[in-house]
Amino acid sequence: MNFDLPVLAPSILAANFSKLGEELQTCSDAGIRWFHCDIMDGHFVPNISYGPMIVETVRECQPEAFLDVHLMIENPDQYLEDFADAGADLISVHYETCPHLHRTIQQIKKMGCMAGAVINPATSAELLRPVLPDLDLTLIMSVNPGFGGQAFIESSYRKVQQLAQIRQEEQLSFLIEVDGGVGIKNIGKLVQSGVDVLVAGSSVFKADNIPARIAELQSKALTSSNKLV
Ligand code: DX5
Ligand code: ZN
Repeated sequence: MNFDLPVLAPSILAANFSKLGEELQTCSDAGIRWFHCDIMDGHFVPNISYGPMIVETVRECQPEAFLDVHLMIENPDQYLEDFADAGADLISVHYETCPHLHRTIQQIKKMGCMAGAVINPATSAELLRPVLPDLDLTLIMSVNPGFGGQAFIESSYRKVQQLAQIRQEEQLSFLIEVDGGVGIKNIGKLVQSGVDVLVAGSSVFKADNIPARIAELQSKALTSSNKLV
């Protein structure tokens, strides 16, 4: 994986599934190389989304894209292989669903995928500390998982800063991703706080002009990252 950071990662949950291939291509033409897939089981989160078949479809439509699969499901260990086979490049599991998180991370890596761990808004970032050296990515939920289009939770900035600080102190290299309520208003501050990967569902797919919105989000992210100065 070789990306210029920060990366904008559209969450296809907010896409129009009757023309998914077309919308993925619109994003790709606008420069998107990373897609976020939200898997919800109706148990861990109060909503059901889609399973490995759709991930496989995304893979078929965008063979070169980086596919980031966010598992909001109970017993994720049981389904890791299905998502790896479907074409996931990165699989993230919730801290709250994994009693043996270290083992789950090793399992994901054994399948040839990168491994991420996710924390809910009510979960402390400190709890990830023991597994940080094993992680490729940490994902901070900035809404309670389950639905797109919710309001960003302000305390998420603090968690981003905490993880960025630990990463620097311990010379680690995991990416920091934020998911939920990301848009034009907060993308700059998120990047300044240390976010590398910005998941955006509604703010991308519900825009009247998707390419224009992507360009606007990307330019705000880039100018805030000090890479243009
Ligand atoms: C929430 C999902 C998010 C969601 C983000 O449970 O994990 O990825 O699709 O959607 P927006 O950007 O609309 O908040
Ligand atoms: Zn997500």
